[in-house]
Amino acid sequence: FRRVELEPLPHMTLDFVKLLNEVCEQCYRDFAPDDVEVKVREHILQDFENFLRCQVPGAKLVLFGSSKNGFGFKQSDLDICMTLEGLDTAEGLDSMAVIESLTKALRKHHGLRNILPITTAKVPIVKFYHTKTGLEGDISLYNTLALHNTELLASYAAIDIRVKILCYVMKVFAKVCDIGDASRGSLSSYAYTLMVLYFLQQRSPPVIPVLQEMYVGEKKPVVLVDGWDVHFFKDLKNLHKYWPEYKKNKESVGQLWFGLLQFYTETFNFKETVICIRRKEPLTTFKKQWTSKHLAIEDPFDLSHNLGAGLSRRMASFILKAFINARTVFGTPVRCFPPEYSNKMEYF
Ligand code: GTP
Ligand code: MG
Repeated sequence: FRRVELEPLPHMTLDFVKLLNEVCEQCYRDFAPDDVEVKVREHILQDFENFLRCQVPGAKLVLFGSSKNGFGFKQSDLDICMTLEGLDTAEGLDSMAVIESLTKALRKHHGLRNILPITTAKVPIVKFYHTKTGLEGDISLYNTLALHNTELLASYAAIDIRVKILCYVMKVFAKVCDIGDASRGSLSSYAYTLMVLYFLQQRSPPVIPVLQEMYVGEKKPVVLVDGWDVHFFKDLKNLHKYWPEYKKNKESVGQLWFGLLQFYTETFNFKETVICIRRKEPLTTFKKQWTSKHLAIEDPFDLSHNLGAGLSRRMASFILKAFINARTVFGTPVRCFPPEYSNKMEYF
């Protein structure tokens, strides 16, 4: 992410900001799942759990990821976490043996195809394809931190509708530009969501608070999961009482989207600063010893995890170029956008 010369942009017009806003809102309406699709996911989960319980005693399943964090697409995968009743942590558990029996069990399920165990990943999973809905998914074991970060993202999504809309726009942008697939060397959608949240926290006035820094009472509570602190402020109904900047930011989604593109191309220093949503004060790549990385995005709970660690120099510069192009496209007033966007999204 080297600093490059940026094209000067023409003056932004009010009409164009309005159009940008409409495009962002349309994107949200087009891609957010409806109630039926949400229920289908819960139904599949229940069916799996009933089926699995006969084969793997005590199996408990929960949905996480975008099926639950508020930023799901109609075609998003099903992220499922499995735990065993009576066993709080995976400590002492023979994960490989459980993955093996889970694989065997899922292969007997008539509604599923392409059952594939992946045991080399940080968290072992079993992948599947759900024939009736065409949804892909995976079941992981004791992916407890992911359940917490799902809840954290869902809380941010619940604070302000602009958070939701912008995260959808960002995910669509990443897919259209082909920079949103971690398994092919780019960044995961989770990473892009963190980039949006960071921008919204750093905006002046901020659109969202830093929930992990907020607490009621004298001392910040510490809640440890897998050795990491997962505390964050959950009493959103009373957010206005504890966050002085509540509803101070009045910008439209269109303004914020263009603001985000300007932020990551004109202001943010990728070499020196970490994208970090757990604190307001800037965190340096030097402090984290992540200076050799092209892009540093810190997981909000697993602080040793840099979501940008896997980026090659080439890919990092490809991603930055996509942001630079978007800044020009969304920062140059036109009367309407070409209809290409909907064609490109058909495979989505
Ligand atoms: P979709 O693209 O709509 O599926 O978004 P998603 O948020 O569900 O992303 P994905 O399916 O890739 O990941 C599922 C969840 O795993 C995320 O929402 C996070 O809660 C969690 N997660 C934690 N760490 C990571 C990570 O390093 N990479 C990814 N991809 N997910 C992580
Ligand atoms: Mg997912």
